[in-house]
Amino acid sequence: MAKMRQRGVSAIAWDDWVMRPVLIVANWKMNTTPADAGRLAAAMAAATDEPLVDRVICPPFVSLTAVGEALRGTGISVGAQNVHAEAFGAYTGEISAPMLAGLATWCIVGHSERRRDDGETDALIGRKLGRCREFGLRAILCVGESLEEREAGQAESTVRNQLAAALAAAASFDGGLDPGLVVAYEPVWAIGTGRTARGSDAAAMADAIRAACAESGVADPAALAVLYGGSVTSASIGEFLAEPSIDGALVGGASLKVDEMAGIVARAALTARARHAAADLAPAGHA
Ligand code: 13P
Repeated sequence: MAKMRQRGVSAIAWDDWVMRPVLIVANWKMNTTPADAGRLAAAMAAATDEPLVDRVICPPFVSLTAVGEALRGTGISVGAQNVHAEAFGAYTGEISAPMLAGLATWCIVGHSERRRDDGETDALIGRKLGRCREFGLRAILCVGESLEEREAGQAESTVRNQLAAALAAAASFDGGLDPGLVVAYEPVWAIGTGRTARGSDAAAMADAIRAACAESGVADPAALAVLYGGSVTSASIGEFLAEPSIDGALVGGASLKVDEMAGIVARAALTARARHAAADLAPAGHA
């Protein structure tokens, strides 16, 4: 498997190099109302005007319209935080992929809070991935280990098992696996706790994620975007983006603060610019 090993432009082994975009995703979770979400999104857009960074805001379902209107023409995309595994049917209170057409282009799938609170299994999460692919939503698949699993030395095997099971279920849908899949590594013990993984641990996990995706049949794992999530702030984002195998962040609490998002996206823009500069230098066929 080709890997991106970019420590500095002069150190690039071009045979192994692939340009991946930098992506910052805001997960607003169960915060904001339709009355205030549009204003917050507009303020975010004004403070994070960095076109080289792919930016996505994922508000609650009921605020998708307000946020979409506020973001029109800004280059920032809208995402949902969840989707049902079926397209239609007797599922009271649920939202399906075809219902999101025109409201969202991205969708978070398998967040640990849904695994914990709603009993989402890897097989169900895989079916949600398949449904996203069927209806043209770009999925952000969340994986991550608990503290007990990390302390037992099972962090990597937990994440690999989550990926293998979810991707096997997704692959059984027409069209197979989405080549544009994004994976977010979110260690459960780092979410909302103020604790973050070390950049080097997140990078090692990103390599394991690409290897597991390759085994599961993802077409071009070197091109797979891997995000880090878990208490990311403007102060901590640099540690993760200093790792060439990390392509951005899935941001929770800090994504509700305009100044924090401005700092996070500004740091992401440095990495995006460095990657674009490297791509400009790359021999034909490598960028
Ligand atoms: P925090 O950034 O609040 O820890 O949340 C991370 C997360 O769950 C993003 O999906």
